[in-house]
Amino acid sequence: MPRFTRPKGTQDILPEDQPYWAHVQAVVAQMAQSYGFERIDVPMFESTELFARGVGEGTDIVDKEMYSFKDKGDRDMTLRPEFTAGVMRAYVENGMHVQPKPVRLFSTGPIFRYEEPQAGRYRQFHQFNAEIIGVAGAIADLETMLLAWDIYAAFSFKDLSFQLNSTGCPACKPAYLKVLQEYYGDYHDVVCEDCRRRIVSNPLRVLDCKQYQCQPVIAAAPRITDHLCEGCAQHFSELREYLDVLGKPYTLNHRLVRGLDYYTKTVFEVWAEGIGAQSAVCGGGRYDGLVELLDGPATPAVGFAAGLERVILVMKAQGISVPALPQPPVYLAYLGDISRQHAVRLLADLRAVGIGTQIAMQGSLRSQLRQADKREAKFVVIIGDDEIERGEVTLRDMASGDQSTVAAAAVVTLLRDRLP
Ligand code: HAM
Repeated sequence: MPRFTRPKGTQDILPEDQPYWAHVQAVVAQMAQSYGFERIDVPMFESTELFARGVGEGTDIVDKEMYSFKDKGDRDMTLRPEFTAGVMRAYVENGMHVQPKPVRLFSTGPIFRYEEPQAGRYRQFHQFNAEIIGVAGAIADLETMLLAWDIYAAFSFKDLSFQLNSTGCPACKPAYLKVLQEYYGDYHDVVCEDCRRRIVSNPLRVLDCKQYQCQPVIAAAPRITDHLCEGCAQHFSELREYLDVLGKPYTLNHRLVRGLDYYTKTVFEVWAEGIGAQSAVCGGGRYDGLVELLDGPATPAVGFAAGLERVILVMKAQGISVPALPQPPVYLAYLGDISRQHAVRLLADLRAVGIGTQIAMQGSLRSQLRQADKREAKFVVIIGDDEIERGEVTLRDMASGDQSTVAAAAVVTLLRDRLP
């Protein structure tokens, strides 16, 4: 065991995995841009207060999972446990609310949560996050859901489905929570200890409890969708109509409440085959009260985030291949001290005209050629002390194995002509 190992729940993304990351990051960014979203990057840490307020005291994220610390100026800081609060802080702070609506923003980057690691669950992971700000209508909910869906479809994911619910709004949610609390009052001795606590501190979360003894209680619990106010019911049915028109499969899941406090009305997840228990590849919903909670003007908004590790896990499980990353096409090998000097000059000349080139650094010619093969070079220039005295080098085409002697002075032009 080495003395230094990576922290629990973090990963090293090794070169062999980088093609997956490059592909996934490129596809999500391209897709978001083609749907009209603009990129925004926000800090990896923010004031602890922002997340406590935005995500909500009493949520698992805020109570148990934040990487919080005091900086050297005695300020309370937290590594971001999600994007939305930071993006909305930036929206308010930078006066973006004066822009024409909707404002559509996307981000990608690392997220930090102190969770118990398992397959598909880490303490440092990456999200793709998208938000549509400034539209109250269900068309914006639909558009975020379509982006989520189309991203997974673009990766050829199998067995996609939406899980869908509405969590109401400040007009109808409090009355529903009372009904739920009354109902749970009858089962106080049956449900788990966590639920006895949650029904007081964060009642909706009892609905996604995984404990065995709570399942029958949840199954028979009053459903929020039967207690929505007219506005929420109308919004929810409009969204479902859109999904029906487009033929997108969704399951109404009254247990879907999500782990963040800011949601109002729509909540959804996309589930896909391939990651077992962690079947949610992304999740999101509407959060009409958050901008105001962060001292901005009342602004409706909706969005989602996708865990990129889970995307890559599913891609691997479903055998989806990705393009290889480009390698420098030219490799310079040489035999002795004099030829090394020529090789160094040729290296600079090739790079100066934009031809990606690597130079051997050590080893016999044989091992240099093995390296060139491993690095998938298209051409190898072999420079020998005798040849270079005659003003010549050897050029090998690695695909065909053809090898020829060419004038050293012509090799740059020759390679430029032969490479795409
Ligand atoms: P979330 O459901 O907490 O939502 O996270 C979104 C996605 O991040 C999950 O569906 C999952 O793919 C991934 N994820 C979450 N935790 C982990 C973990 N420990 N390891 C690996 N992947 C993980 C949010 O974060 C909301 N901010 C989404 C949102 C944006 N709602 C509105 N706008």
